[in-house]
Amino acid sequence: MCGIVGIVGHSPVAPLIVDALKRLEYRGYDSAGVATIEHGALARRRAEGKLINLERRLTADPLDGTIGIGHTRWATHGVPNETNAHPHFSDDVAIVHNGIIENFAELRSELEKDGYVFSSQTDTEVVAHLVSRELRRGARPVDAAFRALKQLRGAFALAIMFKGDDDLIVGARNGPPLAVGHGEGEMFLGSDAIALAPFTDSITYLEDGDWAVIRRNNIQIFDMSGEPVERLRRQSIGTSFLVDKGNHRHFMHKEIHEQPEVISHTLGHYVDFTNGTAKALDLPWDFAKVDRLAISACGTAYLAGLVGKYWFERLARLPVDIDVASEFRYREMPISKNSAALFVSQSGETADTLASLRYCRGEGVPIGAIVNVRESTMAREADVILPTLAGPEIGVASTKAFTCQLSVMASLAIRAGVARGHIAKGEEQVLVRQLAEAARLATQVIKLEDQIEKVARDLAHSRDVLYLGRDTNYPLALEGALKLKELSYIHAEGYAAGELKHGPIALIDENMPVVVIAPHDRIFEKTVSNMQEVAARGGKIILITDERGAANSTLETLDTIVLPDMPEIIAPILYALPVQMLAYHTAVFMGTDVDQPRNLAKSVTVE
Ligand code: G6P
Repeated sequence: MCGIVGIVGHSPVAPLIVDALKRLEYRGYDSAGVATIEHGALARRRAEGKLINLERRLTADPLDGTIGIGHTRWATHGVPNETNAHPHFSDDVAIVHNGIIENFAELRSELEKDGYVFSSQTDTEVVAHLVSRELRRGARPVDAAFRALKQLRGAFALAIMFKGDDDLIVGARNGPPLAVGHGEGEMFLGSDAIALAPFTDSITYLEDGDWAVIRRNNIQIFDMSGEPVERLRRQSIGTSFLVDKGNHRHFMHKEIHEQPEVISHTLGHYVDFTNGTAKALDLPWDFAKVDRLAISACGTAYLAGLVGKYWFERLARLPVDIDVASEFRYREMPISKNSAALFVSQSGETADTLASLRYCRGEGVPIGAIVNVRESTMAREADVILPTLAGPEIGVASTKAFTCQLSVMASLAIRAGVARGHIAKGEEQVLVRQLAEAARLATQVIKLEDQIEKVARDLAHSRDVLYLGRDTNYPLALEGALKLKELSYIHAEGYAAGELKHGPIALIDENMPVVVIAPHDRIFEKTVSNMQEVAARGGKIILITDERGAANSTLETLDTIVLPDMPEIIAPILYALPVQMLAYHTAVFMGTDVDQPRNLAKSVTVE
C-alpha cells in the first residue's frame, strides 16, 4: 500500500505533490511527507496522521523547489509516526517507497557495519543508505540506484531523488504499480494514473522489474539486466476531478445511496433487458466446455466471489473452487486446462489477488478479472476485463463495488447456465427480468435507513455481535460482520446459521445481539430453527427478512427489518444494503472514522 509521487517540473512542486497525494490517500493515511531540492539542498516536511496534517505543516513552513517526491503511508515496518514517515534521506539521497523490502534486516545489519546510522524503524531506509553507499563508492546517481535495486528482495515501487541533480528521479517497480506521466518539459511518476490526472493523461505503466530514469525532457526505461525496454505510452481515461461527498456526511453514505444507479448500469452492461437475455460476452473460455471455475479475491470482493459460487453451481451446474487470494497463491492448487479463473477486485491491484492471477496464468488457464478500476494491473494482465460500473469508490469499506461485483456474477452465472444447457430460454427471460427489478427494489430498501439507524443505536452498545445466514446469506453474514468490525471496531463474527451449534452458540447470552439474515426462501424454516436456538439462550435477535418471512416467523425479536419480497436471484444484492447501513450507522454512533477506519487501506499492495 502507500502512495508515491514524483515530479520533475518547472514550477514549485510541493503543492502539486500534495494534490496528487490526495488522490492516493486511499492507499494509506498513517502519515505523509514531501521532499524537494530547495536551493541545492534536500529538504522535507513530514507529518504523522492524515494528509491534512502535512498540508498544515507546509502552510506554516512552505517548501520551494521544482523537483520533488511525496508519500502517503500505510505502515508496515515501524509505528506510524513522523520519524518513520517518508521520504527517507541518506546523505544526498531521498526516497519514497511502497511495498516491503523482505531482506531489509540483513541489509540493515550490513549497512550498520559500514557505519550507517538508521534514524527510522522502516525497511525503506535501507534503500536510501544502499544508494548512498553506491554513490560513496564512486557510482554516478543512475548507476548507484541500479546497483542498489539489484540488492533488493521483496515488493517495491520506488522514487529516488539525488541532491546533486535537480533533473533526475529514478523510479522502479517490482510488484506494486507505478505509472510514468509524460508532460511538456516536465515529467511525473505516481502509484496510479488518477494521481497524475491533473497533470497529464499520457501514461506509461512500468512492468515488474522495470526501472526508469526520469528527466524533464525524456524518460528511459530499463529492465533489471540494465537493458533498455520499450513500454507502451497510452492515453489514460482517469478523471482529474477529485470526487466529492455531495450532500452526504461520508463517502460511504454517498456510495451506499448510489447503489440503485450503479447496479442498474452494471447489469445493463451484461444483460439485455429488452430481449431478456444474458449477453454473450467475448470470453476466452467457453462456458459449455469448462469443467471448473476457480474464483479468488480478498476481503469484501472474496465474499462477492463466495456468493458467485452458489450461483454458478446452482444455475450452471459449474463446480467452483474459491479461496481467499492469500491462500490461493501458495496452496499450489492443481488446476486443469479445462478450467477458467475469475479474479474479483475493486482496485485491480490487491497484491495477493494479482499473485493468484499470475499463478493461473502460469498454469495456462484463461483469466477474467472483475475489476472496478479499468486501468489497473489486473485489468491489463487478464484475458478479459469484466468491469463493474460502480464509479470511483472512496470509502475504504467497499459497498457499491460489492453489489456491482454481485451483479456481474449473477449475469455471468445466468450466461453460463444457458451455455451449459441448464437454463432454458424461458427461464433465462424470467431471470433477466428479475435482475431488472434490482435497482427499483434497492431504492425501496434504502428507504429503511431511518429504522436501521435506530437499530444501530442499540448495536453501538454491544461488545460482540454475531451474524448468521444460510446459503447465499452466509457470505452476507460474513460481510455484515466484516463491515461492522472494520467500521465500528466492535467484535463481530459471521457464521453459517447451521454451524451455530458447533461452537458459537456457547457465546450466546442476553448481551449478545444476533443479526439473522433470512429472506423467506426454501430454507427459511431451517434458519428459524437456528433462531429458536438463539432465543432459548436469551440471545437478542435482529432479523433481516422480507414480508413473508416477517409474517411466518413466530419468534420474538429485538428488531425486525422488513425488506420487500423479491426474487431469490437478486436477494444477495439487496440484502447487502441493510447490512451496510447497519454497520455505517453503528460506526457513526460510535464516532469512528467511517471513510478511513484505523489501520486499514483501500488498496492493499503488500502481502
Ligand atoms: C481492502 C479494502 C476492502 C476490499 C479489499 C480487497 O481490505 O479495505 O474494502 O474488499 O481490500 O480489495 P480489492 O481492491 O481487491 O477489491
